[in-house]
Amino acid sequence: MAEQLRSRDGQQEKRQRFTKVELVEWLNEHNPDKVSSLFQEADHVRKFYMGGEVHIRGIIEFSNHCRKDCLYCGLRKSNDQLVRYRMGLEEIFQAAQEARRLDFRTVVLQSGEDPAYSVGDLCILVKRMKKELNLAITLGIGERSFEEYKKFKDAGADRYLLKFETSSPSLFKRLKPDSTYAERLRCLEWLKELGYQVGSGNIVGLPGQTSESLAEDILLFKALDLDMIGIGPFIPHPNTPLAGTPLGDLEQTLKVIALARMVTRNTHIPATTAVGTIDPAGRQKALQCGANVIMPNATPKEFRKHYQIYPNKICLDESPQNCRFCIEAMVTSLGRKIVSGFGDTLKHPHSGPLGDRKSHLPREDIFPIKIV
Ligand code: SAM
Ligand code: SF4
Ligand code: FES
Repeated sequence: MAEQLRSRDGQQEKRQRFTKVELVEWLNEHNPDKVSSLFQEADHVRKFYMGGEVHIRGIIEFSNHCRKDCLYCGLRKSNDQLVRYRMGLEEIFQAAQEARRLDFRTVVLQSGEDPAYSVGDLCILVKRMKKELNLAITLGIGERSFEEYKKFKDAGADRYLLKFETSSPSLFKRLKPDSTYAERLRCLEWLKELGYQVGSGNIVGLPGQTSESLAEDILLFKALDLDMIGIGPFIPHPNTPLAGTPLGDLEQTLKVIALARMVTRNTHIPATTAVGTIDPAGRQKALQCGANVIMPNATPKEFRKHYQIYPNKICLDESPQNCRFCIEAMVTSLGRKIVSGFGDTLKHPHSGPLGDRKSHLPREDIFPIKIV
């Protein structure tokens, strides 16, 4: 397999076709030389399709209230140990303004599923951020109705993040009791239909997850033709029913990132905060095996310590400015460069208001891929 990966000339098609069996073999591969060859090849594929640039997105975690009870998450409604907060609409706007001042051109507004914010208020906020700050806006506020997604889109939201978490319907059912796998996928379909740039992703190392199931996650990334894929390790939270279960493995997470890059090629893939939480150099490692995006925390300092999805989250005592500078230094140390721009999808012609598409980069229709 490693030989096949190393051969670059004339092997493009072959290299990019992975059967489920091959993906499982890679996920079960522990030979350091072979794993290292996989990471190197994923890095080549990243360079070829995405270039050396790293896109940054500032995350504003504006509320940690949640009506759901996902077994893995520290924000689940049954966690009565968590200090809950909601940022006001003006506070969210100011956080976005600060992000813009720090040269972010994309912000991600993320929260638990918190019905306290009306759709109308969120739409006003989105419109104002577009008009006054000229930012690309990504929402990550969970499962909503088609009509609500449409209203956010009409207000100017460009992108939406909704991880499917696991492609195993039975595991999904056990870990997300208030939702169903079918509903989650339907939300992703609606988002696509509405013209959002759509991000999804998974958690690696969930209790009960197998290599087969992870291989199916990767094939689903491809089948959904995602614009962004977030891949992070499972980090058990002490105040959840999964307390005491094993931590997701760094190497396995990096392998999923590398394989997702090789299978989906021109997708934006972030080096996630979770990978930086389980290893101090986790984000650097992810950027060297397929990732091309980084999402520093742009939440004001007084709130971020309470957004404890999982324990020991990095950057809790830092300011948005510290994180911005830290990321600049990290990316430069890898010989890469942060690009100032919206960092739109490279996947398909985009008719939205954003204008920095890089049509010179190879696209799906130029290099057809088949998953067999
Ligand atoms: N509520 C929205 C949702 O669930 O889609 C967005 C916010 S939620 C906190 C963002 C992401 O956190 C989830 O998609 C999940 O992948 C991740 N997450 C939650 N708990 C986690 C844990 N213990 N370890 C790793 N990732 C976790
Ligand atoms: Fe709520 Fe999202 Fe956490 Fe589930 S993962 S409990 S929906 S914040
Ligand atoms: Fe926050 Fe490094 S990214 S301090």
